[in-house]
Amino acid sequence: MAMSLPIRPNVLRMAPYSPGKPIEEVKRELGLTEVVKLASNENPFGASPRALEAIQRAAAESHLYPDASATDLIEVLARHHRVSRDHVAVGNGSDNLIQLIGHVMLGSRSDTVVVGAPSFVRYGSVAQLSGCRLREVPARADWSLDTEAMAASADSETRLAFLANPNNPTGSCSTVTEVQPLREAIAKSGLLVFDEAYHEFAAERADFPPTLDWVRSGEPIAVLRTFSKAYGLAGMRIGYMIGPPELVDAMNRAREPFNVNRIAQAAAIAALGDTEHIAHTVLGTRESLTRIEEACSKLGVPTLPTSANFVCVHVGGDDAYVARELLRQGVIVRPGSVLGMPGFLRVSAGTPGETSAFLEALAHALAERLEPSL
Ligand SMILES: Cc1ncc(COP(=O)(O)O)c(C=O)c1O
Repeated sequence: MAMSLPIRPNVLRMAPYSPGKPIEEVKRELGLTEVVKLASNENPFGASPRALEAIQRAAAESHLYPDASATDLIEVLARHHRVSRDHVAVGNGSDNLIQLIGHVMLGSRSDTVVVGAPSFVRYGSVAQLSGCRLREVPARADWSLDTEAMAASADSETRLAFLANPNNPTGSCSTVTEVQPLREAIAKSGLLVFDEAYHEFAAERADFPPTLDWVRSGEPIAVLRTFSKAYGLAGMRIGYMIGPPELVDAMNRAREPFNVNRIAQAAAIAALGDTEHIAHTVLGTRESLTRIEEACSKLGVPTLPTSANFVCVHVGGDDAYVARELLRQGVIVRPGSVLGMPGFLRVSAGTPGETSAFLEALAHALAERLEPSL
């Protein structure tokens, strides 16, 4: 007899997260030896050498549980951001923190979560998992997030709003002026979460919202940052939040005790001190994206402005076809149709060699599209 478990219906309505294809799988499926992955916005230059050393040292103590309170890491982060320790939470990737925020903030079916669309898909999952209402507010025609419309869609039941800044998958950046209405609207009944996973790539912008100042002055605002992008530690799974102490306290009650492993804690402490590695990463990323922007313009496929470590290329028509053609040549990118941006490819910055491989494969794929082989 087929078993039918009483799984919650809202969970069954959720789509599982669909990550970029792993390099090993593509190599196996296509019989390729060289594969370039520009699909997950990782750091192509790798982790800081200081972090790699710390990882080796911490690995020797793998038989010991991690510090459940992440004392040293929280101390270092608090100092780095000039806040007290009770403003800081750490998680198994910022994804873990997004989920925890949902767990502690959402309870009733009438609770509402406001998000922009397209944006990072995990915000929607949090709302779906809790069974509350999700308001997805479409981006403007230029693909920037419509913060005014997001503010207008909030009401007295809005408990959470998520703003990815810079946004994934568009690369757009909301300015200090643009976020003002949202900041005012959400403060009335809930928490505004600025997800700054790509902050290091936009930090030079004078119009970037001073979100940490707002947290320091006691506003209902939380800022998420991650070690997965500029810091090059995606495989370690570590992110952090700077937010109101009341929220940090609630998340500490709800989280699993050892939600950041020993090796990740050591790696993050070392990486945070390596400002040279970040500067090198930001520069190399900009160089790669500039090359992509210039070459795409020559190929007749425009790019969107980006403040992150990836860029959206408007290939038009069937983006999945172009992505498949690139894959056949050993280059993995994300087709926009799976990210809410049909007609686009989202391409992460690469090393100089990876960038060349992508551009050659793209030129070939676009030529194939014009003259499909018989
Ligand atoms: C906007 C945004 N937030 C959060 C994450 C998750 O990052 P982490 O690796 O810290 O879980 C990503 C990953 O791509 C992202 O793009």
